[in-house]
Amino acid sequence: AVAPPGAFVIFGGGGDLTKRLLMPAIYNLACAGLLNDDFSIIVVDWAEMTDESLVAQFRESIDDFVNKRGTSAAVLQNDVWDHLTANISYLRGSFEEESTFAALNERLLGRNAVFYMAVAARFFGPIVDFLGESGLASEDNGVYRRVIIEKPFGADLVSAKALNARMLKSLDETQIYRIDHYLGKETVQNIMALRFSNGFFEPLWNRQNIDHIQITAAETVGVEKRGRFYEGTGAIRDMVPNHLMQLLSMTAMEAPTSFDADAVRDEKAKVLSAIQPVKLEDVVRGQYVSGSFGIGDEAEALRGYREEPDIAMGSQTETYAAMKLSIDNWRWAGVPFYLRTGKRLRKRKTEIAIHFKQAPYALFRDTPVDKLTPNIMVLHIQPTEGVTMQFSAKVPGPAVRLGGVRMKFDYSDWFSDGPSTGYETLIYDCLIGDQTLFQRADTIEGGWRIVQPALERAAAEHSPLCFYPAGLDGPREADELLARSGRRWLDLSR
Ligand code: BG6
Repeated sequence: AVAPPGAFVIFGGGGDLTKRLLMPAIYNLACAGLLNDDFSIIVVDWAEMTDESLVAQFRESIDDFVNKRGTSAAVLQNDVWDHLTANISYLRGSFEEESTFAALNERLLGRNAVFYMAVAARFFGPIVDFLGESGLASEDNGVYRRVIIEKPFGADLVSAKALNARMLKSLDETQIYRIDHYLGKETVQNIMALRFSNGFFEPLWNRQNIDHIQITAAETVGVEKRGRFYEGTGAIRDMVPNHLMQLLSMTAMEAPTSFDADAVRDEKAKVLSAIQPVKLEDVVRGQYVSGSFGIGDEAEALRGYREEPDIAMGSQTETYAAMKLSIDNWRWAGVPFYLRTGKRLRKRKTEIAIHFKQAPYALFRDTPVDKLTPNIMVLHIQPTEGVTMQFSAKVPGPAVRLGGVRMKFDYSDWFSDGPSTGYETLIYDCLIGDQTLFQRADTIEGGWRIVQPALERAAAEHSPLCFYPAGLDGPREADELLARSGRRWLDLSR
């Protein structure tokens, strides 16, 4: 259904996020006919710009976006784009001055509005305060006023709680849309579809049948130009309480009673609350040193983290983290969840691997139980999107021999690829007032609660980093974390 009329206000809309992701996503929504005819965009930023120069910038990046797709959709729909950009305006002002908000109020003329925070985290608080004080956050007279807030949502449990409390002074929880862009990924949303719209997964989805679960978010990119931000953040804060906890809670939650925002988020909060804070002994913190992608003449040399721009020579920031978590409830007691994420690894790969228990005894004499192919179901989130199941089958021939096989479902074989940045669903859901795919205060705080004690101890005890060469699989110590109980990570280059 077409979204209600209204304005989409982007604080910090002159920046990269808007060009690369928000504008393409909004354009895709317009192409799909989901935006109201009366939809306008107001960009608030401090740089000297005009409506025309702003639109010209957006034009360049939308052309890039459309061209990159290189498919039949690789032509900009000019009528859609022209209509969209005819309703874009620029408002120059500081995020910390009342006059900006007064000017915005005049421009909004009492209409519905979404306020998108595409700004550095230090501005979240001040902007929300001003939205409250200026009356812009008020939903009187039947309009809606919603705030979309990007991560990082706090830098630890205390600051996340403080930010939640500050936002709730000016806004109601129903007006707050905390983005975790992982929830915009089709394959992440598919975890719930897979589990709860099929009869045969759920009966197996528990401690009776599952040995352990591995969640991986491996990246090949290094810290790039984000050194200043990343130095004070590190892999744990950057990825674990948010993205990885979302993957974990989707995988481990109980079935919600409905698909309503709060029914789903209640179940996520419940499973997070059953997770014990991770012990530092169960955490491996790594940092990449120089290395290469590939070997020999073709190799691409990679510098170490400490040689990257804006990184301290003796930096103690982790660029890799692996950890073991346990969930204390009836479904999962005794089933370890292993998480790992890191930069400058061999492959870009986000996946959830469900390792099932082995067959109980060796019926096939030539293949003892411990030589059977492990039964693993992998949910591939990116870059490949699909599901594979790995199991044993009889090798053809007169002897009874078993071999490992894989059954594969590939998204692209079944569904035509919707052109997507991952932000379409999230923006559209906010326009129609559906908070299901957004984080609630308690799920954000739940994520922080789990990693907080380990973060504090690592800092206080100067816990040593485990160094790993860029371009490979991460630190050896992460393998040892699983080897302690006779397990091993799925190979990244598989
Ligand atoms: C962001 C992190 O939230 O997620 C980045 O700040 C990281 O450091 C990115 O690279 C990963 O997202 P994706 O969609 O590429 O998996």
